[in-house]
Amino acid sequence: MSAKNENESKNKRTKLERRAALERLLRRGTTDHYIDTALYDFEYAERTEDVRWYRKLAREHFDGGAHIVELGAGTGRITCPLAKDGHTIEAVDLMPKMLERLYDRAEGQDWAERITLHEADMRALPLEDASVDMAISPFNALMHLYTWGDLLACFREVYRVLVPSGVFAFDVQLPDVEWLTWDPNERHAVTPFEHPETGESLIYSTNHHYDHATQICHINLYYDEPPPKGRKFRPPPKPKRLVRLAHRQIYPEEIRALTGIAGFELERHEGDFRGRALTGASESQTVVCRKPA
Ligand SMILES: C[S@@+](CC[C@H](N)C(=O)[O-])C[C@H]1O[C@@H](n2cnc3c(N)ncnc32)[C@H](O)[C@@H]1O
Repeated sequence: MSAKNENESKNKRTKLERRAALERLLRRGTTDHYIDTALYDFEYAERTEDVRWYRKLAREHFDGGAHIVELGAGTGRITCPLAKDGHTIEAVDLMPKMLERLYDRAEGQDWAERITLHEADMRALPLEDASVDMAISPFNALMHLYTWGDLLACFREVYRVLVPSGVFAFDVQLPDVEWLTWDPNERHAVTPFEHPETGESLIYSTNHHYDHATQICHINLYYDEPPPKGRKFRPPPKPKRLVRLAHRQIYPEEIRALTGIAGFELERHEGDFRGRALTGASESQTVVCRKPA
């Protein structure tokens, strides 16, 4: 093999290895955070504004009960209140553990029969064409679709399963370039807590690394043992537990472009759950679009 060919083949190998490493990271970034479901519910117990927003939307658009598909339903934080309100929900999620927790949360309730669980990918919905009134994707679930092609595939699936005039609502973070470019070696949000199930004392901390080329933010959530009494917490060289979380940043113009290309009419694109305008200071993007009549 000539030196040129050898170099080309080495470059190809390096590229393939890099691709494989990214895929491994993304696999963990889509699953790690959704294994300890008791901890998931504990960490987001105070997140309630979004629950109110989705309930109000469903009520406003479909008084008397809608047929709704929820993409990335998780442990049912939003699913269960919607079912209580009289809606019928197709709860779609990739993670069996999250769906098991949803099942446990609903079991025995008189509204439980209005929920159907689907272990499925939001890019290939297990539903008939024009079979649901509304689709929702709460709490950054769409940020687990790592390319614009994945997002478009999902939006096209939503379009397919919605009835004419059906509503599609979701929320994702507004990319915060200042936060994304924080020093990836520093730890933030250092917080002691007790595990909700085991009672174990732990220290939570986090950092992240943003890849500008892929728009993916690789977040690390660390769970460590607390330091001896009176001593300051210092991150150990090897964490007790490391949870990877990967979030693709979705910029406002991508939302406008991809919802449009998928055929939706964009009705609202706001900066929070209170109807405030989307500005540089917004944390979220709340989006409501509609399939034309
Ligand atoms: C941040 S959680 C949101 C869960 C729930 N909607 C809530 O508001 O608490 C994101 C969920 O999306 C699910 N998910 C990620 N990628 C998915 C995909 N491609 N298809 C279906 N579900 C997916 C995860 O398993 C996880 O349960």
